[in-house]
Amino acid sequence: MATALIAGLDAALAARRAAGLERRRHPIASPQGPRVTVDGRELVAFASNDYLGLANDPALVEAVRDAASRWGVGAGASHLICGHFEPHEALETELAAFIVPCAGARALTFSSGYLANLAILSTLAGRGDAVFADRLNHACLNDGAQLSRADFVRYPHGDMDALERALDGSKAPRKIIATDAVFSMDGDVAPLPRLLELADAHDAWLVVDDAHGFGVLGEGRGSLAHFGLVSERIVTMATLGKAAGIAGAFVVAHPSVIETLVQTARPYIYTTAAPPLLAQAARTALAIIRDDAGRRAHLAGLIQQFRDGARGLPWPLLPSLTAIQPLVVGDSGAAMRVAEALRARGFWVPAIRPPTVPQSTARLRVSLSAAHSADDVAALLAALRSIAAGLA
Ligand SMILES: Cc1ncc(COP(=O)(O)O)c(C=O)c1O
Repeated sequence: MATALIAGLDAALAARRAAGLERRRHPIASPQGPRVTVDGRELVAFASNDYLGLANDPALVEAVRDAASRWGVGAGASHLICGHFEPHEALETELAAFIVPCAGARALTFSSGYLANLAILSTLAGRGDAVFADRLNHACLNDGAQLSRADFVRYPHGDMDALERALDGSKAPRKIIATDAVFSMDGDVAPLPRLLELADAHDAWLVVDDAHGFGVLGEGRGSLAHFGLVSERIVTMATLGKAAGIAGAFVVAHPSVIETLVQTARPYIYTTAAPPLLAQAARTALAIIRDDAGRRAHLAGLIQQFRDGARGLPWPLLPSLTAIQPLVVGDSGAAMRVAEALRARGFWVPAIRPPTVPQSTARLRVSLSAAHSADDVAALLAALRSIAAGLA
């Protein structure tokens, strides 16, 4: 017989299911890519964050093979004990030279972007300080703010006047403005130049989460390069699990920020280092990001093709110029039905529902990759049009 504890969980799970909010995992039987095999069927996938098509790139697969024979598979310890390897060190040097938020910046690698954001915010802010955050920021920036115990002030998405008022009214000794650079479920780019002006005016840190801009914008250097921004008050991070195709993450900032993270950030210190083979493969990914502009050019063409083709659909397209192209359906159940109809036609596009996005803004998150062809995008648009015609 289920205990009351289990019964409580089961009741909450049933309520979730009834509200159309149950989430499912789908084991994939192929590598990540524009075509994946799921439940014995091949689907054309517009679902991953593999924006440059590197997750199954032969050069990266080879790099991992070589690195595994040279470095083994596990780091064996946290960075500060004995898990910091030459590939980590080399990757940090190369990242710092590529993404230059300020003169002489240093980089620090993490096992995940989630941990990097927890580390940044809990290190730069504490009780009595204040974190100012865009309402659509990624969950891990929010969780980092909670972990820091600072006051957590959220401003409406992109509302620079509201942010300015909040900063003006704050007496916090240390202030942090934290923002996604490219919003993960909307695809739009934060007004980073204005955010830096406000940070300058209020002597605040500007923490920029460039998970979706790194590799794609600013000739691969990311959103700061896209706008040409440089400042000692910028702390930027990105994951290596999206455009770079692998896993892990990094922070780039003034050397004093990085040294403080190394010395004091609990999400850096108290976790096993990512395997050195991943750091070594990330060096290959970084070289491709730096040198292969062709992938970004192809992706830009697909983005334009999708936006042109999606105009007549009944679901509004958000103002995004990035690889994330959401179609807003509104109701969670309706978004699920469109996603299922796409799946029946051989396409995998995830329906994103609350609480990941605000209530009544459930959407199809179409994500494009340099690994897609123009024919893939044309076929998706045709399927969306046929589903829309069936609803009319
Ligand atoms: C904006 C943003 N920040 C951070 C993360 C976390 O990065 P990671 O997957 O490396 O933990 C993600 C996605 O996973 C993200 O979309």
